[in-house]
Amino acid sequence: MVDFRRINDLPPYVFAEIDQLKLHARRAGKDVIDMGFGNPDIPSPDIAVEKLIEAARNPRNHRYSASKGIPKLRQAISSLYLRRFGVELDSEREVVTTMGAKEGLSHLMWVLSGPGDSVLVPSPSYPIHIYAPVFAGADVRQVPLGPMANPDEFFGDLMEAWESTWPRPKVVVLSFPHNPTTTCVDITWMTKLVNFAKEHDVVLVHDFAYADVAFDGYSPPSILQVPGAKDVSVELYSMTKSFSMAGWRVAFLVGNAAIVQALTKLKSYLDYGTFQPIQIASIVAMNEAPDYPKLVNETYQSRRDVLCERLCKIGWQVSKPKGTMFVWAPIPEPYVEMGALEFAKFLVSEAEVATSPGVGFGPGGNGFVRFALIENEQRIAQATRNLKKVLTRL
Ligand SMILES: Cc1ncc(COP(=O)(O)O)c(C=O)c1O
Repeated sequence: MVDFRRINDLPPYVFAEIDQLKLHARRAGKDVIDMGFGNPDIPSPDIAVEKLIEAARNPRNHRYSASKGIPKLRQAISSLYLRRFGVELDSEREVVTTMGAKEGLSHLMWVLSGPGDSVLVPSPSYPIHIYAPVFAGADVRQVPLGPMANPDEFFGDLMEAWESTWPRPKVVVLSFPHNPTTTCVDITWMTKLVNFAKEHDVVLVHDFAYADVAFDGYSPPSILQVPGAKDVSVELYSMTKSFSMAGWRVAFLVGNAAIVQALTKLKSYLDYGTFQPIQIASIVAMNEAPDYPKLVNETYQSRRDVLCERLCKIGWQVSKPKGTMFVWAPIPEPYVEMGALEFAKFLVSEAEVATSPGVGFGPGGNGFVRFALIENEQRIAQATRNLKKVLTRL
């Protein structure tokens, strides 16, 4: 038998258990309302789809492309950062295109960390935040975000974790608005962190996947808005949620030039770039549909309102998130002892509503399930009616 490397210590993917039950129920003819996986259902901008078709017809675009992204694509993200965040980026040195934030983060960890290094990551977290440094051979120290996910408490815990870890962590992975807890921070919080990183020579990696998914007037800060942040920080911006272009696999690493160039170099050995028509269509999306993220966001906001208001009405108390496309719902008291996995299994089997068990995001998530806002309002309303029927102890 082959002695495999790197995958042996991966825990069983708990989301797979829910998927299995979902499949089973669907095969039995049940109409499962799927709010498990954060896979956007909103179409990508028409203008990008049209451009993709046109560009795909041109044989010149069938060749290998540029691993770091074609110049106009990198210029388009520089313009977006200037327009959206007032942040200037040199598209030659401070931007590299990645095949989604997930790929970008994974390979970034190869150049930032390795055996003997330690990396601080919040827990619970989007799984690749924990496993990217693990794959790179680094030690991961998980810092609890806590049940209330209070950013100030988390900041204190992060400092404490840094102080008590040896060798001192070289890298901190962050992501706000945060998946799955929906925690949001402001620019003052980011500034404190950047100051800490500068003082202690720590690299900050900010996954900004939910840059544009925010509600009630809240505008998530880019870490690069903090003066001097580029000295110590890089940020991942993705087309996935902002432009609802999940399957296209286009994201960017931006910020500190040395770090961006290190990833650019590694990627030049690993890939030949995203299919060029996709890059061309992404340029069009950013330049010609700059307000698309607002439309996407309005859809998530009304779904959030329907879900949260109706859950509260049936006696399941949840708070409305300020950002992300998720609702992080504490398991109601009478069901707490089931734990997240059993509770999520119960919801999919009995109520035909799929959620993600919080424990899949790390041990800190065990008291929660996560709803992804990827069903329309009618189906969300139906989901809450189904839940009302089965959650008889509420
Ligand atoms: C925090 C976070 N980062 C990254 C991603 C994936 O982004 P991409 O599609 O750009 O790889 C997700 C998707 O759910 C996410 O929640």
